[in-house]
Amino acid sequence: MVAKIDPFHAIAIGGEAYRLEAEGRSVIHMEYGQPSTGAPSAAIAEAHRVLDSDPMGYWESAALKERVALLYRERHGVTVQAEQILLTCGASPGLVIALTSLFEPGAKVATARPGYVAYRNTMKALYLEVEEVACGPAERYQISAAAIEALEPAPQGVIVASPANPTGTIIPGEELARIAEVCAKRGIRIVSDEIYHGLTYGEPAHSMLEYAPDAIVVNSFSKYFSMAGWRLGWVVFPPDLIEAARARMGNLFLTPPSLAQHAGLKAFECIDELEAHVATYRRNRELLLAALPALGLKEIAPPDGAFYIYADVGRLTNDSLAFCRKLLNETGVATAPGIDFDPVEGQRHIRMSFAVSTDRIEDAIARMIPWFKAQPPLSQPLAPLRTI
Ligand SMILES: Cc1ncc(COP(=O)(O)O)c(C=O)c1O
Repeated sequence: MVAKIDPFHAIAIGGEAYRLEAEGRSVIHMEYGQPSTGAPSAAIAEAHRVLDSDPMGYWESAALKERVALLYRERHGVTVQAEQILLTCGASPGLVIALTSLFEPGAKVATARPGYVAYRNTMKALYLEVEEVACGPAERYQISAAAIEALEPAPQGVIVASPANPTGTIIPGEELARIAEVCAKRGIRIVSDEIYHGLTYGEPAHSMLEYAPDAIVVNSFSKYFSMAGWRLGWVVFPPDLIEAARARMGNLFLTPPSLAQHAGLKAFECIDELEAHVATYRRNRELLLAALPALGLKEIAPPDGAFYIYADVGRLTNDSLAFCRKLLNETGVATAPGIDFDPVEGQRHIRMSFAVSTDRIEDAIARMIPWFKAQPPLSQPLAPLRTI
């Protein structure tokens, strides 16, 4: 039987948002999880430079793999060999390669709910069994060692994400250590999605590699490096899995774009520019958090990282997609419906991305305050979720 995959509803909202814009409406795009800034300028200059000289064939940049390996030494104090790095066309194919290198069809893989839409749908497409672990505000929407310990029978794998999409919450280092311990004890393989590393507003995020050297770590140039459309990412594999992973990359995707690899290497030299984006997100986060009470949105776990606010709108709606469409059509503010991230509780949530300019955030807040105030509460609102 062919696996049935749910659509990514934020893309439908994005389509509607662009249609409204084409009709002359002013739209603020907070529906997609992508920076609005574009690649750093030196990376773009490098791409221009190599276009005239490089044949742009199938290629894996040895220098880029070395640079990525260095990142783990510099940032996390762990030794990763360049040969353990697989360059991919973003984290999305990286997840496919990680999951197919580790698990047979039918294997059970646990992940937090809410969580990134593609975990659930990629696993379904690969005929893996998704074990969604309900995580509310009381758990700061994150899977814990205790929750993994309580799963009977033990799943074959777990996907952890810190900072997470859609909530931006982080799993602290001590908890990552406990997760590593439980997984080692129970024979559970860990896939750690670290795509939002670099985008944190308090403590920096720890890598799972600090605690579980055999974890598979997925990352990408789409978020911190602001290069989503360049389609470039990487996965760190333990030595015993890298050949299996290479075989999958070569057969399924060949190599990532050569142009992106040249530009990506240069992007590592653009830290000042990239940190300026983080400073903008930090300011946007503060503005949005300060505005939430005026929107009547109190049930949130403030994000530690990434660029999202995941807000409970259960007082106003039990249909998050309809709610996002109404908000878009009546204010021009595009957001993502919670059903993308949580098939059970997602009807009561929306996700706002603050990876836009601060002007746009201020404008969005000014548009949303009167709109939210004017929304009639549901006659039978959903029962509140457990709070922190
Ligand atoms: C948590 C998470 N993982 C992976 C991805 C996929 O990213 P990429 O553009 O690198 O394929 C995204 C994209 O939004 C994401 O939010």
